[in-house]
Amino acid sequence: MSRIFGFVSVVAIVVTAACNGGGDNNAAVSNEQRNEAVANVASGQGTPVDVKAVMRARHEHYEEMGKAMKGITTQLKAGSPDVAAIQGHAALIARYGPQLLTWFPEGSGPEAGKTRAKAEIWQDMEAFRSIGGRFEQESAAFHRAAQGGDIAAIRAALPALGKTCSDCHKRFRGPDEH
Ligand code: HEC
Repeated sequence: MSRIFGFVSVVAIVVTAACNGGGDNNAAVSNEQRNEAVANVASGQGTPVDVKAVMRARHEHYEEMGKAMKGITTQLKAGSPDVAAIQGHAALIARYGPQLLTWFPEGSGPEAGKTRAKAEIWQDMEAFRSIGGRFEQESAAFHRAAQGGDIAAIRAALPALGKTCSDCHKRFRGPDEH
């Protein structure tokens, strides 16, 4: 028991530090919720995962990707699109391509607190991974098109990437309850 408590208090310190730095409003997590989330994951796996930190980072990565997609469409609508800006956004999305599936460890669904990630993700992990795999491919393909610098080619490559976002959201993302 003392080992578990020792572990939990270390995590609590890390979480508190992250909250102070990030200043987001999800910071008000009770010790009880935090310990429960940590214990759930710690009991299931050899490597302890700080679930709240994973969920917060996931949210931030998605916000960045949302902004990047918006930046790309804004440029493509502009009279003379800024290719370098598009390339920067494409690089960010492609960097997250191989990472996305790691943002969903067991225990980071609705049971762990406020999230739009549906429980169905963990119930149908095979389907979730399959869309995640397509996202990885399309984010790389779009990145290559962006590197090429040809606006027509970039424009042509965007819908396939956008479709992987929306296909996954339709099935695995719940409504925004802000
Ligand atoms: C394999 C599934 C999947 C793919 C692919 C995917 N998303 Fe999401 N997205 C989710 C899930 C699940 C959530 C909810 C996460 C949460 O609330 O913890 C989400 C949340 C978001 C959010 C809201 C931020 C938040 O956490 O509330 C934005 C913005 C977003 N995604 C943008 C994108 C964009 C842009 C793409 C494509 C470039 C994309 N996503 C690809 C599953 C996916």
